[in-house]
Amino acid sequence: MSKIINKFNLIGKTAIVVGGSGLIGSQTVDTLIDAGCEVINVDLHNNKKKIKNYNFFKVNIQDERNIISFKKKFLKKYKKLNILINHAFYKGNPKKIIPNQKYFSSLDKYPSLEWNKTLSVNLNGMFFLTKHFINLLLKNRNSVILNTSSTYGKVAPNKNIYGNSGINSPIGYATTKSAVIGFTKYLATHYGDKGLRANILVPGGIKSPGQSKKFRKNYEKLTPLKRMANQNDYSAAILYLVSDASLYMTGTEFIIDGGWTSW
Ligand SMILES: NC(=O)c1ccc[n+]([C@@H]2O[C@H](COP(=O)([O-])OP(=O)(O)OC[C@H]3O[C@@H](n4cnc5c(N)ncnc54)[C@H](O)[C@@H]3O)[C@@H](O)[C@H]2O)c1
Repeated sequence: MSKIINKFNLIGKTAIVVGGSGLIGSQTVDTLIDAGCEVINVDLHNNKKKIKNYNFFKVNIQDERNIISFKKKFLKKYKKLNILINHAFYKGNPKKIIPNQKYFSSLDKYPSLEWNKTLSVNLNGMFFLTKHFINLLLKNRNSVILNTSSTYGKVAPNKNIYGNSGINSPIGYATTKSAVIGFTKYLATHYGDKGLRANILVPGGIKSPGQSKKFRKNYEKLTPLKRMANQNDYSAAILYLVSDASLYMTGTEFIIDGGWTSW
């Protein structure tokens, strides 16, 4: 009998991690490499040195032409793709959260430009990547797509926790994070019979720079496990979702939120 632990093995597999330089993304890249996978990070900036089984492509995923040109470069170097993970999202600034920026405007003053940018990274980018790489994924048995939503794609952001921090969770975020769920369930139901699985990671808030003490306290109070997530709290679940350990799982919202959505 084969050992169950071997199902988590990604040796011989190739993955694209979009947003692989971010908080969750960089942990995802490390985890997949640890499991033996060849990993291609698609992001606006690179945060890793040259390491084995890792490659970086600078691609702005908002523009379909960039994805087409990335695909050409990808195919020159790689013959196959087994895993596509979409983590990238727009937060007003790709590197860090800046309080009081236009991205955090209230709905009545919300700049169309910020709304469009949110949709264009969070949804268009995911759509372009999926559209141009799905046929490559379908060439292999047991290929996987993992898209990233949020607790705020399941329940509305709690406006009471932000105080006067200048930070909140704007309308476009909730809108796009809900849409990620619908998009992924479409993939699961339309491509399941072709052997492709598609699941949704639903993370809760991660403790990260820029958050005020007050905000953290408020967030923790509303979390049954009484803490925000650590950057690596999602890694084991991601490995499970993209490996053969989850072979009978598709179209699922995998919620990891310290209990936030359970009240
Ligand atoms: N951090 C959290 O607290 C939290 C909570 C719930 C859900 N999530 C979700 O998890 C995912 C990852 O979150 P994170 O906190 O790791 O994000 P992050 O901001 O740390 O990383 C996102 C990455 O996407 C990249 N990116 C942004 N715009 C891009 C573009 N146009 N083209 C290519 N790359 C682009 C950024 O450069 C960045 O490296 C997101 O989808 C987010 O909605 C995060």
